[in-house]
Amino acid sequence: MNAVRGAVVWMSGLSGAGKSTLAGALHARLAAAGRASIVLDGDALRTGLNADLGFTPEDRTENLRRVAHVAALFKQQGFVAIAAVISPEQRHRQAARDIVGEGFVEVFVNAPLHVCEARDVKGLYARARRGEIPHFTGISGPFEVPLAPDVVIETDRVSLDRAVDQLLAHLADTGCLPGCSW
Ligand code: ADX
Repeated sequence: MNAVRGAVVWMSGLSGAGKSTLAGALHARLAAAGRASIVLDGDALRTGLNADLGFTPEDRTENLRRVAHVAALFKQQGFVAIAAVISPEQRHRQAARDIVGEGFVEVFVNAPLHVCEARDVKGLYARARRGEIPHFTGISGPFEVPLAPDVVIETDRVSLDRAVDQLLAHLADTGCLPGCSW
């Protein structure tokens, strides 16, 4: 019997775009279908594994290098590893793709800056506007729009369920979900 193929779903986007919500919903739908997955959330990883890192371009490069390697390990063991990380620059996403290799799915979780800022779930945009947070993505730091993502999810336009349908369809199309029946 062939080993189950793993995958890495790499969700990139602004803070507040909906990456964590989407990652959690995908994780739940995969679990319901009997498929093992794990969410690697930037905020969560920064409380432990990456607690020594900040938000300079160099620190983000190191943060994302670690996340990509952890994701790759899970992929090799048949998981769908779902990374929810801003990964603001093209080179960050390319580096992750290079580390992971086959089975890398780049998802642009897209919501306009003004929408993310209006949501401001963590109050960080208000603080960044007051000049209190250096290198804040979209305000005092760059976000390079992904040029050729595999999937784009516009979280201010599609429902969470539809967005997860889109991701599952892509994973099935690319052969990352053998034996699944959605
Ligand atoms: S990444 O750029 O290195 O990929 P990551 O996804 O791990 O970022 O962490 C982003 C989270 O850190 C945000 O959702 C937000 O809660 C928090 N954060 C704190 N400071 C910043 C900042 N300067 N820029 C962006 N996010 C920040």
